[in-house]
Amino acid sequence: NVLILDFGSQYTQLIARRVRELNIYCEIHPFNKIPENVETFKAVILSGSPFSVRNEDAPHPDLSKIRGKVPLLAVCYGAQYLAHFHGGKVEPSETREYGRANLSIIKDKERLFEAITENSQVWMSHSDTIKELPENGVRLASTQDVLNAAYRIEGEETFAIQFHPEVYHSTDGKQLLENFLVKIAKVKQEWTPGAFVDNTVAELKEKIGDDKVVLGLSGGVDSTVAAVLLHKAIGKNLYCIFVNNGLLRKNEFDSVLDQYKDMGLNVKGVDSSARFLDALAGKSDPEEKRKTIGRVFIEVFDDEAHLLDDVKFLAQGTIYPDVIESISVNGPSATIKSHHNVGGLPDFMKLKVVEPLRMLFKDEVRRVGAEMGIDPELLGRHPFPGPGLAIRILGDITPEKVRVLQEVDHIFIQGLKDWMLYDKVWQAGAILLPINSVGVMGDERTYEKVVALRAVESTDGMTADWVNLPYDFLQKISNTIINRVKGVNRVVYDISSKPPATIEWE
Ligand code: XMP
Repeated sequence: NVLILDFGSQYTQLIARRVRELNIYCEIHPFNKIPENVETFKAVILSGSPFSVRNEDAPHPDLSKIRGKVPLLAVCYGAQYLAHFHGGKVEPSETREYGRANLSIIKDKERLFEAITENSQVWMSHSDTIKELPENGVRLASTQDVLNAAYRIEGEETFAIQFHPEVYHSTDGKQLLENFLVKIAKVKQEWTPGAFVDNTVAELKEKIGDDKVVLGLSGGVDSTVAAVLLHKAIGKNLYCIFVNNGLLRKNEFDSVLDQYKDMGLNVKGVDSSARFLDALAGKSDPEEKRKTIGRVFIEVFDDEAHLLDDVKFLAQGTIYPDVIESISVNGPSATIKSHHNVGGLPDFMKLKVVEPLRMLFKDEVRRVGAEMGIDPELLGRHPFPGPGLAIRILGDITPEKVRVLQEVDHIFIQGLKDWMLYDKVWQAGAILLPINSVGVMGDERTYEKVVALRAVESTDGMTADWVNLPYDFLQKISNTIINRVKGVNRVVYDISSKPPATIEWE
């Protein structure tokens, strides 16, 4: 195992991500909670920090059990920390040291900088600079503005770098981490989803003990994998709640609920469709619809959580991209938390939070889910927005419109599956437009609804392109929809990319 000591940098999780890309397991611990058994770790990495070592309240951990005993890589703040408190000197930088820089490598070509080319691009983000190296420090690399961009300590396997190897823009960052972990620290590259499951289950057991945990299931990949992990750890003390907001896909509530029960989860299905649809009646503004659904969800979940005695934890299927978003400069996006802060928190949000997937990216979540034997069909499901069909019914929502759109969506999605196209598409769905168009059926003129079909390819939903679905597929689906779904007489296919369009229409 590799230990990452966190000094509060926004990039700490990214270090973990890079380490795991090397198939090496790592754990992040706060700097003030160094594990007792620290000498059993194979290597330690010190993260960056928003603090300056010169601040009174800057993190000041005791590294005596680590230095000289376990290979150590100190990044940014870590590098300054080693210098400042061990005979070197750290001062405010004269020039701004943010962003791109190029390395001039002086020493250690065989070890830390093996296979890294001269002038390799690195990413800097610091306002202090190391003026003098600590005792026994040997300079390894410089950049144009930073004399001591990398150094090592003579007589120890201790290395320090001022730049951030974990960020994407440090071109050889991964190579450097590999050099440190594999070549220098001799860590084996054997992290697997199975190891993650074992470790996480052990941690959850330890953290939760005999306490009860409540979790909201959505039918999606993240909350399902989180539930299965927790179930492995604490069994029947996990109480899952699956809310039907009346805006799910056709038959989804019952079929997903059955699937959860088959998986042995202790899950309560709560059908609150009427409550959601009542609250939405007459609302057409997209943001108002989203907020209404968020508010009613919290009310329903809070009511349900109150029915359980003695719950101590709230589990969430938060994954790493959500974490990045919530700590980004723009602050948390429209999550449950942000718009509920105003009127005081509902009781369930005062519970302690457990987020077993906090460190994982979506592909890793899927691998972990597969490892635990979760149905591949469930793991391969397209993303589906929390507000569900509400944001695919443009304008106001009525039960009849929901029914129409569920039928259309079902034909489209089932068609994609039947034609083996489902897995080639990142996300797909149908949109009910708020206009009627003229048609002719038999001898009669019709004046009915238009639906749009949307299928996109993407990796993260941030950018997307429409999928070039086969014409004969589109022809068949269009025909089936118009013949089978009463109230629809026209089908169009959305051929807009994101940007400038978005995936959803609202
Ligand atoms: P857009 O429409 O912004 O969508 O291109 C990008 C991804 O986000 C999903 N999405 C949402 N998910 N609540 C959610 O949970 C929302 O309000 C919401 N709006 C969009 C969308 O389905 C796509 O995967």
